[in-house]
Amino acid sequence: MSKYIIVSNRLPVKIEKLHNQWKFSSTSGGLATGLKTVHENGKSLWIGWAGISGEAIEKDDYSVLSQQLIKENYKPIALTQKEIDDFYLGLSNKCIWPLFHYFKQYVEFDEQQWESYVAVNQKFANAILEEVESGDKIWIHDYQLLLVPDMVKSIKKDVTIGFFLHIPFPSFEIFRIFPKRDELLQGMLGADLIGFHTYDYQRHFLSSVKRHLHLPVSFNVVKKADREIVVDTFPMGIDFQKFEQTAIKQSETAQKDFTPFRAELERHKASNDGKIILSIDRLDYTKGVIHRIKSFEYFIEQYPEYKEKVRLVMVTVPSRSNVSHYKKLKRETDEIIGRVNGKLATVNWTPIWYYYRSFDFNDLIDLYSLTDIMMVTPLRDGMNLVAKEYLATCFDHKGVLILSELAGAVKELHQSITVNPFDLKQQAKSIHEAINMPIEEQIDRNTELRERIKRYDVTFWSHSFLERLNELPKVFKLNKTLPIDAVIQQSIVSAYQSASKRLFLLDYDGTLVRFHKMRNKALPTEEVLQLIDQLSSDPSNHVVIISGRPMSFLNSIFSKKNITLVAEHGHFVKNKNNDKWIDKNPSSNEWMHYIYPVLQQFTDNTPGTLIEEKKKSLVWHYRKTDPELGLKKSEELKTVLSSMITSEITIMNGDKVIEIIPSWVNKGSAAIELYSNDSYDFIFVAGDDLTDEDMFLKLPLDVFSIKVGHKQTSAKYSVNGYRELLSVLNKLNQ
Ligand code: UDP
Ligand code: G6P
Repeated sequence: MSKYIIVSNRLPVKIEKLHNQWKFSSTSGGLATGLKTVHENGKSLWIGWAGISGEAIEKDDYSVLSQQLIKENYKPIALTQKEIDDFYLGLSNKCIWPLFHYFKQYVEFDEQQWESYVAVNQKFANAILEEVESGDKIWIHDYQLLLVPDMVKSIKKDVTIGFFLHIPFPSFEIFRIFPKRDELLQGMLGADLIGFHTYDYQRHFLSSVKRHLHLPVSFNVVKKADREIVVDTFPMGIDFQKFEQTAIKQSETAQKDFTPFRAELERHKASNDGKIILSIDRLDYTKGVIHRIKSFEYFIEQYPEYKEKVRLVMVTVPSRSNVSHYKKLKRETDEIIGRVNGKLATVNWTPIWYYYRSFDFNDLIDLYSLTDIMMVTPLRDGMNLVAKEYLATCFDHKGVLILSELAGAVKELHQSITVNPFDLKQQAKSIHEAINMPIEEQIDRNTELRERIKRYDVTFWSHSFLERLNELPKVFKLNKTLPIDAVIQQSIVSAYQSASKRLFLLDYDGTLVRFHKMRNKALPTEEVLQLIDQLSSDPSNHVVIISGRPMSFLNSIFSKKNITLVAEHGHFVKNKNNDKWIDKNPSSNEWMHYIYPVLQQFTDNTPGTLIEEKKKSLVWHYRKTDPELGLKKSEELKTVLSSMITSEITIMNGDKVIEIIPSWVNKGSAAIELYSNDSYDFIFVAGDDLTDEDMFLKLPLDVFSIKVGHKQTSAKYSVNGYRELLSVLNKLNQ
């Protein structure tokens, strides 16, 4: 029977040594608390790290502890201390975490840590590959494992992989700073379904895919040569029933059975109509702890009548305390709380109660339930489940949530009091507003908020993600294009060797040479020129360069070669052994005078674009402009042009170009004409661009058609780039 495999850096349990005994305890953090419910309810295997280094446990102990984990369907991944330092504390938490949360100033990139990140991701991928069976679904989580989807997919193409990012995906301008940005994107695109908490993160991700990888994106689908990847928004929920039901149950506890902690909270509430403001976070600089304390201080100073009546209870859970910015934050938090309490406290009142530890579930519920105002004011947060947990415990619908505009949760919880966490005065005012909010208004707001989180709970979240994952193979037929591997390469070589008349139709830019910023500098390397010489020296071979380039350019490079040149997509042909170019249709090109000014206007308004004037066509290039602006402007240009042109002229889409060209011209027709001139028994056609698709479509099915790059295609085979194509061609020469 098929199973789900959940994969995250951390398991929801960690191994710790307490009083000389090994103990399992729960881990904090939204990912672990959320997915735990999914794991407990379903049939799944969870692969992850148990929070301790391999060296810290004797081998025998480790295997006993692992066995216990395995019984609970956990597969522990052992990390060495060096891997913890480099992969976990290093690249994951000193680089990706701050970068994705817009803390650019904290980012430290270190090549050695990157290597460790790659190696540990491979370790996770190998662990998955050991367990996965046909029909299983793999669900990989979060920023520590961004490379794993592709590492698994490249080995096991027939498994369905989901990936979910629990933190923000930053805007392109931030993401581009990361030195290995393409690797991260390619890693994530190994998945078939990629999920984010909010639409903004999804939008940012797709924008980076377009700009860095230059892959086509249609709505929310990324198109690669061999498959399509769906990207969507799935806001994570909580186990609403569990929080609500426990809160109801604990509200019925008799006073004599109160925990000392609860008794203390109740005493404060009873005295002077005291209000409790609560905040609960991992001690992380993204959570806005210092800003929150300052705004509370400002509030008390602005509204001194609340002295002794309001208390801020701050729970900060220790987190990543070996990372310097976390250590610094701990020092700053201790200091500022000491200062504020020192300044404001009275004999009967300590304004801030500060806890630096984690609480067990029942204490957390007491805290949530006795709280009047919950402050969730991160400077940046992927989602924030604490906000939702608080609302779930407000079963009497009373209580106020103050929520940061920069937490993902705000997209769903807009009936809360929303604040800019950097605006201390606004935060202080919001505390005042919350204290004075009439009960009816609290009930109105919370009724709507709770309806939302009750319906969109963690089960809804996981079901909708997994249902979508299950549907994928039905929605998308796998593209039949096959990447050229050793077996396919050998079949091409065999066909080549047994053929007696061979035709090579080779596109130029992006196929034989790399794109160059300066178009006229995209020149062939010595290797390419030699390859063409070798191929064309065999009298059984007919080599054709078929390009959109003008005659002059092709002449300047290939005039001395014994090959056929096709310029301007087929408008001009110069046959091998012949010096003369043939104009295939010497028709008038008067239309160009009307179209040129329109292109000129678009070029003036779109920096980085340019017009290329060929003998029989006009081309508008937008490769060097901002990709999104370029795409938008190209759509506008097409609309304007289509209202102007007659049926004799057509608009041809190329790779970041729009070409206006006589309708009869295209590479497909030119290829067919060349193919029909002789009786070839081996045809090899390669191209990277949309204009090459005409050749792939029009030539008979038994040709070797090869797409260069990852874009969608009708070609039978694909290679990753022009270098790989050269290597395929070189093997024919051997
Ligand atoms: N949490 C916990 N013990 C504590 C404090 C918090 O288990 O002492 C849990 C809390 O209930 C919540 C999670 O930690 O489920 C924090 O998730 P959130 O999304 O708010 O933030 P993250 O830590 O993931 O950044
Ligand atoms: C956030 C991250 C999780 C991480 C958790 C706790 O929720 O999204 O991936 O597990 O924080 O952090 P830690 O570093 O202790 O695993």
